[in-house]
Amino acid sequence: MSALQHVSLGAHYVVHLPRPDDFAFWRERARQLIQCDVPPDRVSWVEPGGTGDLFAFEGPSRGEKRLPVPGADAGEVRASKRFMRLARNASVHSDPERFSLLYRVLWRLQSKPGMMQDSVDTDVRRIEELDKEVRRDAHKMHAFVRFRLIEGNEVENEGQEHYVAWFEPDHHIVRREAGFFMRRFANMNWSILTPRGSIHWDGETMREGPSARREDAPAGDPVEALWKSYYASTFNPARLKVGAMLSEMPKKYWKNMPEAELIPQLIAGAQAREAGMVAAGTREVREMPSSLEAIAGGISACRDCPIAECGTRAVMGEGAPGSSLMIVGEQPGDQEDLAGRPFVGPAGQLLDVYLDKAGIDRGASYVTNAVKHFKFVSRGKRRIHQTPQAKEIDTCRWWLEAERKIVQPRVVLALGASAARAMLGRTVSLAKERGRPAPLEDGSELWITAHPSYLLRLDGEARAAQEELFARDLAAVRGRLFELAA
Ligand code: URA
Repeated sequence: MSALQHVSLGAHYVVHLPRPDDFAFWRERARQLIQCDVPPDRVSWVEPGGTGDLFAFEGPSRGEKRLPVPGADAGEVRASKRFMRLARNASVHSDPERFSLLYRVLWRLQSKPGMMQDSVDTDVRRIEELDKEVRRDAHKMHAFVRFRLIEGNEVENEGQEHYVAWFEPDHHIVRREAGFFMRRFANMNWSILTPRGSIHWDGETMREGPSARREDAPAGDPVEALWKSYYASTFNPARLKVGAMLSEMPKKYWKNMPEAELIPQLIAGAQAREAGMVAAGTREVREMPSSLEAIAGGISACRDCPIAECGTRAVMGEGAPGSSLMIVGEQPGDQEDLAGRPFVGPAGQLLDVYLDKAGIDRGASYVTNAVKHFKFVSRGKRRIHQTPQAKEIDTCRWWLEAERKIVQPRVVLALGASAARAMLGRTVSLAKERGRPAPLEDGSELWITAHPSYLLRLDGEARAAQEELFARDLAAVRGRLFELAA
């Protein structure tokens, strides 16, 4: 029987989706039905019941028509890139009509391939709305998931720290967004529980689980203190617009966010603080975080520049407040991004060799980077380093300054031009300014030298010459630290 004959019998098909977010399943079935010329009014799309447990698969009911199989002569199914992009998002919207809508548009695209450009078409507008609402939901999830610490609650994780977050998405985005949290919190054991299913990460494997209730997630832990101190330290009364704030951070999320407890009191105090800032002639002031822990929380949540979306996580500096030497690199590399620690890859190993030669104890220094996220482009499986732009370095300077205020080093060693820029806020000529101290406003001093990655890119005589200069600069820093300690 050909596809057309099938339709002429007026058969009605019911497609049961195994999961409410299974776009690939919808796409396969939709393609099959289009190839068999089945019009939209002869198909019903049924998703698993309730709020959509990730595992609640319902097979086809007995007696329902099996889907027709396209003949060998079935044509290609047309779908513009724009349709596919919007459809992928729209398919996880909670609107029960979404799969019918998508199929109707796919059907119409076969005879009107340019219809996605028709901005007054009701179907097109509806897909755009669904896409927008899903993206907004994902954005909220990225911004408002808050982990709480529980210890050794699972046999396999006995003794290990486990973080659990409760979140209530409006749409079926949980599985889709798992990758974001895996990359961002790669080294943690965590679970995100939601009424639309849960996801669990143990540092290696992602597992999915059934929907959860709010009571399944714990409340209260030290992480809350960190979020609260971060939020209070970054809250800027000069920027406060209550309406905009409520639309960006709707009240429904407040109950899951430890820092939200502070909002009423911060709003109440905002006018007075803003007046203080204006009196001090300050336009946009964020209060400096008061601890390295608050900075760690702050850089993880920071989205002030596009690099923040790159890589696995923000890499915090390493070392103790009071270290007399602060070493500043450019940005974490591939290995630093994975390990969550600065200078552990090839450049870090070379740095360690030369610090050792100069007699500088890395363990007694504070080691950090000008930019806190790894900026890269993907080539196949490789992640290739990209130099941060001046404006990205300048944006991240605020965090470096915050670290410096807490660590209070007597000497800062900037490795390479990006680090030097981050310290001085201007372009620096390494050749002219390396190897001698530059006074900083707090009485400490800055020394500039080459970046070890630069040395790694050289070979032969050029490398030997640069390594000698590098060793000389480090020896000078060591000498200066001696003098200052005397
Ligand atoms: N290069 C840097 O500048 N910093 C690191 O942490 C690693 C490589």
